[in-house]
Amino acid sequence: MRIINVNLGCRSYDIVVGDRIISYLNKFISKLNLCKLQAVVVTNPSILSNHQDYFLQGLRKARDYHFIVLPASEKTKSWPVLFKVLKKVFTIDNRGDVFLVSFGGGVIGDLTGFCAAIYKRGIPYIQIPTTLLGMVDSSIGGKTGIDLEFGKNLVGAFYQPYLVFSDLKFLETLPVKEIKNGISEIVKYGIITDPAIVDFLERNLKQIPKFKPKDWLQIVVKCAQIKAQIVEEDELDNKGVRAILNFGHTLGHALESALNYKGISHGEAVALGMVAESIMANRLNILKEKDLIRIINLITSLDILPRLKVKPSSSRVLSHLKYDKKAKMGELKVVLPVAIGKVKIISSPPLQVIKNSFREAVKLCIK
Ligand SMILES: NC(=O)c1ccc[n+]([C@@H]2O[C@H](COP(=O)([O-])OP(=O)(O)OC[C@H]3O[C@@H](n4cnc5c(N)ncnc54)[C@H](O)[C@@H]3O)[C@@H](O)[C@H]2O)c1
Repeated sequence: MRIINVNLGCRSYDIVVGDRIISYLNKFISKLNLCKLQAVVVTNPSILSNHQDYFLQGLRKARDYHFIVLPASEKTKSWPVLFKVLKKVFTIDNRGDVFLVSFGGGVIGDLTGFCAAIYKRGIPYIQIPTTLLGMVDSSIGGKTGIDLEFGKNLVGAFYQPYLVFSDLKFLETLPVKEIKNGISEIVKYGIITDPAIVDFLERNLKQIPKFKPKDWLQIVVKCAQIKAQIVEEDELDNKGVRAILNFGHTLGHALESALNYKGISHGEAVALGMVAESIMANRLNILKEKDLIRIINLITSLDILPRLKVKPSSSRVLSHLKYDKKAKMGELKVVLPVAIGKVKIISSPPLQVIKNSFREAVKLCIK
């Protein structure tokens, strides 16, 4: 078991990573003084049906527990579902004696965290990610929120969890498609900060599809350390440090919302976004051809790009850029790689370059 501390003063917390570690959750619940409270666990049906008995071994120290089971879909990150959850929490709450537990992937984590942030102006919550993406990324850093019809994560709050508890055992039942979503974010960490991650992925191309939960330990810990460090430096995403995590997400998010989140997963959209933004960097003469080829080879070899039957309209995708959170005061900021392990933030790149790069990336996805 490995523990990484996210040092944010009075909002500091631990990220615990290990395989088959659920019984240790009881110790953390005691240590965090959550024992006197009722746990309200927000989750999806498939997670509960696969892991309920095992998971409950970690909640022995909570005074009581309740489940709120929500549909597994990006649409769950929405105002009507949030409102339903808030009302349900209120019916369970007996004079402020509840804490929330997000037991799921990024959708459940973002929604539960936001619910914890706004219910009674903030109650404790812990993140128990069950997807690879959740373990390496979304559960860490306190970005919580829901989507609007115009775009993703447009309503939200920074609200740090009390604990992130990543038990790799949950990955046993995670569908391959979802593992690939997590791999996309791992590739992102490699390209933005750490060539060693890219080396690791290149070395393990053949083994990765056969990885057992324990095989993920090293890479999950590495990514959690990177994310923790970035969050420590720029908790509120206003110093330009945390922004580098948006690599691949500017075009990725625009594509997801242009397609109305249908027929494409978050990781696939990010993979396509990373390819398009790397092509953009090359066309703007800030990324060498050999690095671009290495990035494209890695992403195609890992088979994390979407398989598109029809080309999405690049004008429609570009029109969604204006809803991007990274577009401030009319200025679009895009994170572009300058080498493997290093990125730069570029303001308002020429629209034609964005369009052409996106079209080139899409060609790799048409099957
Ligand atoms: N807050 C952040 O910093 C941040 C960062 C990255 C992504 N996100 C958000 O995360 C979301 C995507 O999260 P995700 O990729 O984890 O997807 P998800 O939460 O939709 O989960 C994917 C699917 O896997 C199922 N599942 C989860 N764990 C399982 C398990 N162990 N066994 C079997 N099935 C399981 C879920 O029920 C769901 O059907 C997006 O909404 C994205 O915006 C947030």
